[in-house]
Amino acid sequence: KKVVLAYSGGLDTSVIVKWLQETYDCEVVTFTADIGQGEEVEPARAKAQALGVKEIHIEDLREEFVRDYVYPMFRANTIYEGEYLLGTSIARPLIARRLIEIADQTGADAISHGATGKGNDQVRFELGAYALKPGVKVIAPWREWDLNSREKLMAYCQQHDIPVDFSSKKKSPYSMDANLLHISYEGGILEDPWAEAEEEMWRWSVSPEAAPESPTYIELTYDKGDIVAIDGVPMKPHEVLEKLNKLGGDNGIGRLDIVENRYVGMKSRGCYETPGGTIMLRAHRAIESLTLDREEAHLKDELMPKYAEVIYNGYWWSPERRMLQAAIDETQKNVSGVVRMKLYKGSATVAGRKSEASLFDESIATFEDDAGAYDQKDAEGFIKLNALRLRIAAGKGRRQD
Ligand code: ARG
Ligand code: SIN
Repeated sequence: KKVVLAYSGGLDTSVIVKWLQETYDCEVVTFTADIGQGEEVEPARAKAQALGVKEIHIEDLREEFVRDYVYPMFRANTIYEGEYLLGTSIARPLIARRLIEIADQTGADAISHGATGKGNDQVRFELGAYALKPGVKVIAPWREWDLNSREKLMAYCQQHDIPVDFSSKKKSPYSMDANLLHISYEGGILEDPWAEAEEEMWRWSVSPEAAPESPTYIELTYDKGDIVAIDGVPMKPHEVLEKLNKLGGDNGIGRLDIVENRYVGMKSRGCYETPGGTIMLRAHRAIESLTLDREEAHLKDELMPKYAEVIYNGYWWSPERRMLQAAIDETQKNVSGVVRMKLYKGSATVAGRKSEASLFDESIATFEDDAGAYDQKDAEGFIKLNALRLRIAAGKGRRQD
């Protein structure tokens, strides 16, 4: 028996390695990925080895993560419940896919992860895993064991000689998750929705108050809905996001503090830093504002909340996500051009936009005399016919307040 574990190298997942070996008498294969969490992944190798793991997979998935997951999601201007840019949600399908691929490669029949039984992440990992390998066995230690406190975990480490160095690094008071798109904080004092997050919590951005007094301007080049260059310098998707995170963070952009509805039914308070994503969302809407047809844009906006919910709830690997993606991608054919953004003290505002595929026609839109493309007299009939049903109803004495 063999199980592939999503292994971070931290205390919790190290305990899981031992616990799986003991409880299920199975061989544990570890999988650790660099998706831009900003921590070295290589140290996970020695830690896994020390726990007796023979098959250790360590991968740099940054490029794939942004190219195949983050970028497609941003084509839809996706936000959950009007605020959350889905930084954690969008990374889970990739982890799920790699867990399954490694299981197939190594002949494992099970996968395991370190998500708790109260959250969204367990759902995302497992829906993905089942969708990609219907017969897979899933082991979620947090739902099974009774090591549900820091003290019990520590005791377990001591009993089992788990060589995790957790003395050197002060344990953060928050449950955090980071990748190239965001860093999240939950738990600790945040469990009181009235308590303001302390300034020291934020790791990626300066506060808007402390941001530079003069604005930073950047130009983002779009090709079919995706940013392909910054200030004219061509970049790969993950390089774009790295650069925008830096620029956004330096200017205090992308902090968010919300109470959200988890799929499992509870409300949860979370703080997020999504500097690059916040810039991307604004800029993408700006380039679409020039290049999309009105009805196409509006319908796309109607689909967006559904698409966001599909991703939040963990259904990336589903027919409905593929269907929505196909529709969204179809709209992006002409979403090319340049957006000029102004980054200043916590805000990312659009300073200008241009496109070869622009539908904006200055000669029509002008308040000056136009060349006859739009006859103002036509508007009279347009309005009257649209008003017809309103006039009939009013004429028959229907209420008008
Ligand atoms: N609440 C967010 C979400 O569901 C963030 C989850 C963070 N996950 C974590 N393991 N700390 O997407
Ligand atoms: C967890 O429970 O592992 C983190 C929170 C979440 O998944 O929503």
